[in-house]
Amino acid sequence: MTTLTTQVAIIGGGPSGLLLSQLLNRAGIETVILERSTRAHVLSRIRAGILEWGTVELLQVAGVDARMQREGIPHDGCYMTDDERMVHIDFLELTGKRVMVYGQTEVTADLYAAQDAMGTTVLHEVSDVEILDLDQPRSAVEFTHEGTRKRLECLYVAGCDGFHGVSRKTIPEHKRQEFERVYPFGWLGILSETPPVNDELIYSNSRHGFALASMRNSNLVRYYVQVSLTDKVEDWSDQRFWDEFSRRIPSDAAGRLITGPSIEKSIAPLRSFVSEPLRWGNLFLVGDAAHIVPPTGAKGLNLAASDVYYLHEALIEALSGRGTAGIDAYSEKALSRIWKAMRFSWQMTLMLHRFDDEDAFAAQMRRATLDHLAHSETARRDLAENYIGLPF
Ligand code: FAD
Ligand code: PHB
Repeated sequence: MTTLTTQVAIIGGGPSGLLLSQLLNRAGIETVILERSTRAHVLSRIRAGILEWGTVELLQVAGVDARMQREGIPHDGCYMTDDERMVHIDFLELTGKRVMVYGQTEVTADLYAAQDAMGTTVLHEVSDVEILDLDQPRSAVEFTHEGTRKRLECLYVAGCDGFHGVSRKTIPEHKRQEFERVYPFGWLGILSETPPVNDELIYSNSRHGFALASMRNSNLVRYYVQVSLTDKVEDWSDQRFWDEFSRRIPSDAAGRLITGPSIEKSIAPLRSFVSEPLRWGNLFLVGDAAHIVPPTGAKGLNLAASDVYYLHEALIEALSGRGTAGIDAYSEKALSRIWKAMRFSWQMTLMLHRFDDEDAFAAQMRRATLDHLAHSETARRDLAENYIGLPF
């Protein structure tokens, strides 16, 4: 068997794995990334679009912010609406901070380019990954690559392999606790090369169900509607999407809506999930490998970034011989922020979606929540503070 060695083995070449590797490499720590898919496949997945300011600053520290600074669009606020009202949440005025519109695909492309420039080993299309010896001073990851079984020896393993990866499942079942809420609907999202219907995002809780108007740039929109879990992408022609989307956004916005062919269309189920703890011996879980949020609060990618922040500091401390206090505290520290983002994402999901089996009381609660937002600056500030991201 071919044997490789490194300091930190990183499983998963999505945003978590790449950003962690980039930050560690810049501190002189050696990494190897093992990714199941091809690079083209990783870069073709359309996912998150909103970066908290803390994430923007972390990308800056990682030295991968040049294109984002040129092409990203800072947003100072967003709208929460129903069929009657549009409530403006002015992030900048309420918190002094803003968010950045810059797609996950772009963040990932920038990170791959930076990792190539660093000369980091990124192995694609690896399979049958097995994580071994996590309770030993040296651990190992065995995997199949280009038809041969290989062994990567390391000091630490970062499990950045998403919800369906192997890392979390390597922790014995009786040693982890899982918390989960599965929501009875999904989001149908489209990308279309058309100008945005509004200069800021619109989150709409209409009587016909949820809709979100987001964007990637001045001629590329990302729009979503809440759909039934049994719906398939094939059930939604572009025309059906535009008809449904336009009746769920406020009528003056619908009047300005420019439609066009979709260039991507996909359905994502909504789930809240946390697995505790984030550490098992020399293995550390990061990002979607440990937790999933419904996209309503735009937190998935940003939570992955804060996990990376805590872990990279802890690993640098441990690997430079300054002790293990950071890695010992990683799980608890990261989970404290994760649970607050879980709460916000769950609350936003309840506030903005129609549940199939709901009664008239639930609809009144949503109306009252929006009404409260409209009339209370404190309520708007609370939403803004969570949306722009709690400190890390
Ligand atoms: P991932 O992006 O999942 O990356 C994990 C990587 O590990 C993948 O490249 C995968 O191929 C690889 N991998 C998996 N298993 C193995 C293995 N056994 N061996 C080696 N490699 C492996 N968040 C938002 O904020 N807004 C959104 O609109 C939004 N939309 C989303 C839509 C979908 C369909 C999904 C799935 C997620 C969405 N998210 C969204 C969440 C956000 O994209 C994630 O939180 C973010 O991608 C987390 O990054 P990650 O690197 O932790 O995990
Ligand atoms: C997106 O642009 O894809 C997006 C924006 C905000 C969200 C979720 C997704 O809350």
